[in-house]
Amino acid sequence: MKAIQQIALSGLDGIAVADIPAPAIGDRHVLIDVEAAGVNFADILMTTGAYQATPAPPFTLGLELAGVVRAVSPDIDGVFVGDRVMAVVDHGAFAEQVAVPDARCMVMPPGMGFEQGAAFPIAYGTAHLALTHRGRLRDGEVLLVHGAAGGVGLAAVQVGKAMGATVIATAGGPEKLEIALGAGADHGIDTRTESIKDRVRALTGGADVVFDPVGGETFLQSMRCVNPLARMLVIGFAGGDVQKIPANLALVKNTDIFGVYWGAYAALDPTVLRQSADDLGQMFADGLLKPHISHTLPLDRARDGLQLLKDRAAMGKVVLKVR
Ligand SMILES: NC(=O)c1ccc[n+]([C@@H]2O[C@H](COP(=O)([O-])OP(=O)(O)OC[C@H]3O[C@@H](n4cnc5c(N)ncnc54)[C@H](OP(=O)(O)O)[C@@H]3O)[C@@H](O)[C@H]2O)c1
Repeated sequence: MKAIQQIALSGLDGIAVADIPAPAIGDRHVLIDVEAAGVNFADILMTTGAYQATPAPPFTLGLELAGVVRAVSPDIDGVFVGDRVMAVVDHGAFAEQVAVPDARCMVMPPGMGFEQGAAFPIAYGTAHLALTHRGRLRDGEVLLVHGAAGGVGLAAVQVGKAMGATVIATAGGPEKLEIALGAGADHGIDTRTESIKDRVRALTGGADVVFDPVGGETFLQSMRCVNPLARMLVIGFAGGDVQKIPANLALVKNTDIFGVYWGAYAALDPTVLRQSADDLGQMFADGLLKPHISHTLPLDRARDGLQLLKDRAAMGKVVLKVR
């Protein structure tokens, strides 16, 4: 089968289109014919080994996919041949077939297309876990979302609105802000021309929850415009700098700072993830979540898809069409 492999940890230059054996199906596994795969910032980190869970090369890239079940091992009863499913894997989604443990495979809600399914699990899973279980966002609170036109950011805007928050979105440039406002954000801050701290204070007086996939100076500015008892969610460092947190600022406003690593919850607390997936399925069915896909590319062009994220040219998600 065709697969997109990382041959060496040398960045996007180390990517190759390869012909490899189709996966064998193990115990409690589901074999999926992949229709579409979602591109994530973590894929870029994996090309250099900067991601915390990068395997040794050569390995197939790709963390999430949607497709049709081709076969199941005999010990499985909840998933059936022909089901339309989405799944998250440690790596290997940029391929024509993938074998996944049944626990990491979800039947797609009615009305969801394969491209939407490929764009859904990581972005919405992370946003939902962060805002509910970790950040305890409440109806009527102010949610500040950074990188709000990116994959996880745009999902956080939609999940935050569905939870009843007033959402302030930050993004670089008017086109990106339009996407965030169109997804339901109440206010937009253009990070190219405006101060996050000053604008948040002027708009709402402060933020109760901060969802931050960008990091660095963005996080530090946010610490200066939160309300007392705020919760700050450390999602990632797309900006490239890992911030050093001034504990004195956390002290004076009784601020909680939460690390969020969605991928770890499959082992830490699968019940929380299962509930989160059920809630997200219901929110999608209710029309509250609408995955936005700015680019759809054929599998062969996976490298171009990653380059779009690297260049900050993607909005919402980039998806690879596999068949
Ligand atoms: N903790 C978790 O469980 C989890 C799960 C998923 C993702 N993440 C992390 O969240 C971050 C975003 O992931 P994503 O898949 O949403 O990526 P994405 O779609 O590329 O979005 C990242 C956003 O960050 C902003 N950004 C600021 N500086 C940037 C830079 N130097 N390069 C690229 N983007 C920059 C961009 O918005 P502007 O151009 O508008 O500034 C962009 O829209 C990554 O660090 C990723 O590893 C964490």
